[in-house]
Amino acid sequence: MARWLSAGGRCSWRRLVVCSLTCLLLLQLYSFSNRVSVEVEKMKLLSALHPFPLQEHEQVEGLILLPPFGLKYPHKINLNEEFLNASSTARTIFFPIGAVDPRGDAKNDKHYYRPGKTWLDTDGNPIHAHGGGVLFDEKSMTYYWYGEYKNGPTYHAQETGTARVDVIGVSCYSSKNLWAWKYEGIVLAAEEKNETHDLYKMKVLERPKVIHNERTGKYVMFMHIDDATYNKASVGIATSDSPTGPFEYLHSMRPNKFDSRDMTVFRDDNGTAYLIYSSVRNKEIHISPLSQDYTDVLNETARALVGHHREAPAVFKYRNVYYMVTSGCSGWAPNEALVHEAESIFGPWETIGNPCVGANKDFRAATFFAQSTFVIPMPGAGPGSFIFMADRWNPNDLRDSRYVWLPLTVRQRNERYVGLPLWSRVSIFWHKKWRIPVRENGESNYVIDLQA
Ligand code: GAL
Repeated sequence: MARWLSAGGRCSWRRLVVCSLTCLLLLQLYSFSNRVSVEVEKMKLLSALHPFPLQEHEQVEGLILLPPFGLKYPHKINLNEEFLNASSTARTIFFPIGAVDPRGDAKNDKHYYRPGKTWLDTDGNPIHAHGGGVLFDEKSMTYYWYGEYKNGPTYHAQETGTARVDVIGVSCYSSKNLWAWKYEGIVLAAEEKNETHDLYKMKVLERPKVIHNERTGKYVMFMHIDDATYNKASVGIATSDSPTGPFEYLHSMRPNKFDSRDMTVFRDDNGTAYLIYSSVRNKEIHISPLSQDYTDVLNETARALVGHHREAPAVFKYRNVYYMVTSGCSGWAPNEALVHEAESIFGPWETIGNPCVGANKDFRAATFFAQSTFVIPMPGAGPGSFIFMADRWNPNDLRDSRYVWLPLTVRQRNERYVGLPLWSRVSIFWHKKWRIPVRENGESNYVIDLQA
C-alpha cells in the first residue's frame, strides 16, 4: 500500500482518476440497464393488462405530415388548425380515404373497426348515425344504433354562423355484432312545412338516444331540440312500440325549467332511468330521474361539475361506480375529453382526468379529434371492457363526419400500477384498426348471427 502510494504521486493520482471514472461508468451502466429492465417490465405489464394487441397503438406517431405550401417547418404544424382547414394537405390523416365495408369478403378485414374511416352499412351506403347511441334489445337480441341522419349539404346558419345541415331525422341501424349495420330507415322524420313544429327542418335535432321501458313496453327516444340559434335549449321525447319505429313525437320541454343542450339518457340496473344534460348555458351538468314510463323527468335535479363547462356526456356504470365522459365546449371543433366518476349518480362527481392513451400528444389532447357520444359494454371482452363511441365532426362538410369507436377499460379503484405513465383508471386506447375479441375459429365471442 505504502509502495503503491509512494510509487510517485503523479502515477497514483492517475490511477485514482481512472478507477473513479471506471466506477462511475459502471454505476451509470448499471442504473441504465436497471431502467431498461424496469421499462421492459412495464411494457410487459401493459401488454398483459391490455385486452388487445398493443402494436396498433402508435401508428399515428409514424404519420408523415406534408408541410402545407410555404410552411418550412413540418414539425411546427398545428394539428388543430390543420383539422379545421378544409384544404389542408394533412386532411387524410383525419379523414382517411377508403371505407370499412361489411359486404367485403376479405377475411382479414372482417369485423375490424378503423376509427376515422368512412363506415358503410350492409347496402354499401355511408352510415349516418351521428351524435348517436346504441340500444341492445333483449327481445330480439339485436343492437340498434340511433343517430342524426346528416346526409345533406352543410351551410352556415344566418344568425350564428354555425355550420349546420338541415334536420332530416333520426336514423336507425340494426346489427347482431356491432360491426355490420343494416339501415332500418328514418324512424323519426323532420317536419317539412310547419315552421312552428319542433322538428321543422330549419331547426335543430341532435344526440338522439333510445331506452326501453319494461313496464310500458315502449321504446322511448330523448333528443336535444333547439332552434337554429340554440336558444330554445330543450329536450324532445318520442315513443314507439318497436325499436325500428316509427316513433311518435310527443313534445319538448325544459327539464324542471332548466335549459338543456347536449344530453344523454342512462338506464340503471334497477330500471330507473336518468336524463343527463348540459345546463345553465353549458356551465354545469344536470341529472334528473325519469318518471316510471320514461316520458317525463321527476321534480328532482342534481347539479354536477358546476362551472366546469362540459358537454357531450356519455354515462356508464361499472361495479357500482358511475362514470361520465364529457367534452369541453368548442362547437364542432375537438377538445380534450375528461372522465368523471361518482358513487351515486347524483354525485358528488369527481374529475379523474383525460382517458386518452396512445397515438400522439395532439391526438390525446383532442380526444383523437372526436367528441364523446355514448359508451356500451364490449361483449365477450371480460369485466371492465367497454366501447367508447365518438364523432369526428367535419364542420366543412358535416355529412362526411366520421365515427371513432375505441376500446375503453376501467380498472378497480384499488388497482394501482404505480409509475405507469399514461395509464389512468379509465383509459381509451387509440387503435388505427381493432376488433372485438374473437374465438379461435375467427368468430366473435358473442355473435349470434353474422348476417346482420
Ligand atoms: C357541439 C355539440 C354538438 C353540436 C355542435 C354545434 O358543442 O356537442 O352536438 O351541437 O356543438 O356547434
